Amino acid sequence: MLGNFTYENPTKVFFGRGAVENLKEELTRYGKRVMLVYGGGSVKKNGIYDAVREQLAAAGKEVAEIAGVMPNPTIQKLREGITLARAHRADFILAVGGGSCIDYAKALAMSIHEEEDPWEKYFVRFEDPACEVVPVGCVLTMVGTGSEMNAGSVISDPEKKEKRGKAFADARLFPRFAIMDPAYTMTLPRYQMVSGIYDMFNHICEQYFSGIDDNTSDYLAEGLLRSVLHASRIAVRNPQDYEARSNLMWDATWALNTLIAKGKTTDWMVHMLGQAVGGVTNAAHGMTLAAVSPAYYRHILPYGLPKFKRFAEAVWDVDPTGKSDRKIAEEGLQAMETWMDELGLAKNLTELGASEDMIPDMVRGTLILDGGYKVLDAKEIAEIFRESL
Ligand code: NZQ
Ligand code: ZN
Repeated sequence: MLGNFTYENPTKVFFGRGAVENLKEELTRYGKRVMLVYGGGSVKKNGIYDAVREQLAAAGKEVAEIAGVMPNPTIQKLREGITLARAHRADFILAVGGGSCIDYAKALAMSIHEEEDPWEKYFVRFEDPACEVVPVGCVLTMVGTGSEMNAGSVISDPEKKEKRGKAFADARLFPRFAIMDPAYTMTLPRYQMVSGIYDMFNHICEQYFSGIDDNTSDYLAEGLLRSVLHASRIAVRNPQDYEARSNLMWDATWALNTLIAKGKTTDWMVHMLGQAVGGVTNAAHGMTLAAVSPAYYRHILPYGLPKFKRFAEAVWDVDPTGKSDRKIAEEGLQAMETWMDELGLAKNLTELGASEDMIPDMVRGTLILDGGYKVLDAKEIAEIFRESL
């Protein structure tokens, strides 16, 4: 049954070549004191920084910067940014980058006017903000997380070896607008491109692999999965293919902008396992997911057999003739792993820097959720990590 739900998505999207030209006009709706957030320097090399700065100047904004937001942004970097944003009396935050910069901007937005330290409040107790939230806009440069059109934010504490995040319920945390120019993603290193492709693919799986219903969300998910497969195969052969890269950009947005979760309990255990890996290794997010997925899905397949069978037929075109349900489902997972190899994704945790002695920390860092086909216990989690090494 597609149960009761509320659907609200306030993000306005400017999509396509030259989308940044809309920035000046759009910025007139927001405050004058802008905090510009970006990463380790890619935007300076590829000209995106200059294009954005030009628009900010034309809009007459007073701009202060937080530069050097790292992949898997840290709580320490967030605290530094809160001080800068308060000093600037920022009334708007513009993130230019991938999921890390956009997640960081959202965490900043709900911390500037909050007296308590954000780690405990937002990333340990997972509370929603009760204070004023500074509006956020973004210019997307890396495709995969969907952060451009959702209220998710993930922050790491390297001292505690923890990575924690949440899809916040507060609609004020959605970016007010997202500038999405596929040409901006062309300078991404291949490693980041494929990491993002697996991230979006897995977001869809996390929502699809729950429940036994035959609802709208599942059909939307299957369509998106097929689109990701189609476009990814072209992009891997020719990363400069604009059509493929633009479809991937749009797929990633719809994979995680709350639509396909409607009416579903949703799983998210691959992300919980991957985040625990990220906490101890700081590896690229999509790669952590890729490294644990085969072992995890093989483990839960018997508990969600009808959906895995449907996945095999509807997404991977497995021919069911004369085969048992189990066999069909297993062939689907096999096809998925073959595609993952084609992309050149991480095949195990060892290549991401994890080792046997880190398993206790990773097990401790894995939040156990109950929306999927099997509620894991600590022993099963350790087994999945061991199998993924
Ligand atoms: O820092 P710079 O120099 O900009 O380089 C970045 C970074 O090293 C580079 N890059 C980005 N755009 C580029 C580029 N290089 C060349 N050309 C460009 N156009 O790519 C590297 C990775 O960027 P990052 O933002 O870290 O990647 P991603 O978008 O995958 O974001 C990862 C973070 O998002 C979180 C992850 O956990 C991780 O912390 N997630 C956020 C989610 C959400 N908000 O809903 C959901 C996801 O599941 C995920 O957990
Ligand atoms: Zn993800």
